[in-house]
Amino acid sequence: MDQRSIGVFDSGLGGLTAVRELKRVLPTENIIYFGDTGRVPYGTRSDAAIVKYTRQDINFLKRFDVKMILVACGTVSSVGLPVLREEYPGLPLIGVVESASRAAAKATKNGKVAILGTNGTIRSGSYQAELKRICPDVDAIGKACPMFVPLVENGYTDGQVARLIVEEYLEEVLKFGADTIVLGCTHYPLLKKVISEVAGSDVTLIDVGAQAAHLVKEELTERGMLAEEDGSVSYYVSDNVENFATLGSLFLQCEIKEQVEKIDIERF
Ligand code: DGL
Repeated sequence: MDQRSIGVFDSGLGGLTAVRELKRVLPTENIIYFGDTGRVPYGTRSDAAIVKYTRQDINFLKRFDVKMILVACGTVSSVGLPVLREEYPGLPLIGVVESASRAAAKATKNGKVAILGTNGTIRSGSYQAELKRICPDVDAIGKACPMFVPLVENGYTDGQVARLIVEEYLEEVLKFGADTIVLGCTHYPLLKKVISEVAGSDVTLIDVGAQAAHLVKEELTERGMLAEEDGSVSYYVSDNVENFATLGSLFLQCEIKEQVEKIDIERF
C-alpha cells in the first residue's frame, strides 16, 4: 500500500481525459494534476522547448513526493519523455504511447493504423515506432492535426467548424484505409463524436489517456503501490484559474468543485 499521490500533467486541459479514467479505475488514489495552461499548446513548439517544459512540469510535481507520474500528453510522451526519463531514477514515469500502441495493435483487423497527433508527436514518429516494435506487420501513418487543440481548448467540439476541420484532416487517413485511429493527443477525445461520424462506425478510435490510466493501474498493482483510502484530486495551473474550472468540467465530464491553484512554472 502507498498513500502518496499520483502526479498527472499535460500542456493544458487534455490530460483531464486521463484523470477521468484514473478516477474511474482507481477511485482510492490521490491525484495531483498540473495543466500548463499558460504555455499551451506544446505541439507546435521546438523539441528543445518541449523538453524544457517537460522538465519543469516533472520538477513541480516531484515536490509533492508523488509515487508515479502519468504524462497525460501525447507530445510530451513522444518528445520530452524519451530524453528525460533517465534524469529521474526511482520515479516511475508513464507516458501514453506504449499503452495506446498496444491497444491499436490489438484492435486492427486489416493491419492499417492511423495516428492523429500534434506536429511534435507526428514529427517524432513515436507511435509508429512503438507499433512496429510490438507488431512489425502493422502499417501505420501519422497525420498532424494542429487545429484540433485550439478547437477543443475553445469549446468547439461539435458543429460545423469542428466537422469541416475533421473532414480535412481525415481525408488522407481514410484514403489509406485505416480501420483503427489512435487519438494520439489527450485533447482529441472531446472530438470523438465528430471523428467517429466522419470516419464511420467501423473504425475503432483509441483514447490514449484512458489506455494510459489502465497502464497506471497495472503498474501500481504489480509494484504493490495501490492506495486504499478515499481518493481526492488537487488541481494546479499556470494561468487563468476560472477558465480551467469551466472548460475542465467538459473534459472531466463532471464539475470541478475543488480549489484550483495558479503557480509560476518558470520557477521549477
Ligand atoms: N494534450 C496534449 C497532447 O497530448 C496537447 C497538445 C498540445 O499542447 O499541443 O499532445
